[in-house]
Amino acid sequence: MGERDVAAVKTWVRDARRIVLLTGAGMSAESGVPTFRDAQSGLWTNFRPEELATEDAFRARPRFVWDWYAARRVGMATVQPNAGHRAVAAFQQRHPGRLTVVTQNVDGLHQRAGSAGVLALHGNIAEDKWLDRPRACCTAENVQDGHPPRCAACGNLRRPAVVWFGELLPAAALVEAEEAASGSDLVLVVGTSGRVYPAAGLARATRGRVVVVNPEPTALDDVADVVLAGTSAMLLPRLLED
Ligand code: OAD
Repeated sequence: MGERDVAAVKTWVRDARRIVLLTGAGMSAESGVPTFRDAQSGLWTNFRPEELATEDAFRARPRFVWDWYAARRVGMATVQPNAGHRAVAAFQQRHPGRLTVVTQNVDGLHQRAGSAGVLALHGNIAEDKWLDRPRACCTAENVQDGHPPRCAACGNLRRPAVVWFGELLPAAALVEAEEAASGSDLVLVVGTSGRVYPAAGLARATRGRVVVVNPEPTALDDVADVVLAGTSAMLLPRLLED
């Protein structure tokens, strides 16, 4: 990564009217949240995604899957936004309406850093929802603790409010993200392997420039005008400073 590339991207940031920041697990790596696909620490290293992150897996082994998410939830509650998250939020405060955060992360760190209007395409791990369509008895008062909690009357289970494999993304957030990407002058793709669609497709939906920030090669490098081989906490504060 050359200083000349960093300088060029800073100019693009300065000149862009609308910027989309598309983030993945690597955005939170320097906060101590493991990524999904890294060989050493990746969350999927010991499990295939189909074993855990699907509705079928949850129905087959609700306790196992619930406890796996519960452990991640505890881990994520103890970490803090890093310098990258903070630089993004500070830029948005200085330049209202110019930068939209679109994230695949469910850890809430962009929001906790102060970013407004975050489009969380894969949900939020801190929240639950009903597994089956709620009946009249499925109210907050009727939730009975357990692994997972359930409706005391009908047994309907609570499940993590994240998007599982095979599920649709939240429609409104996806539409907003697509509009933001297609109307943007610049898409910064940070900390994602770019292998999971439709999120990765947003980087291909812009007619503006695309910059990838990642210490490793990604599946989106082919659409990038510039690839900056570095970490989000190191590079974003530089790219987004005035
Ligand atoms: P991955 O684990 O696939 O990719 C993480 C990326 O972050 C890799 O390309 C790393 O090289 C990069 N990375 C690691 N440390 C970094 C750092 N400090 N700064 C910048 N980049 C760094 O995670 P995602 O691309 O987010 O979906 O995975 C996409 C989706 O797959 C996730 O949202 C999840 C998973 O299935 C759902 O849960 C629905």
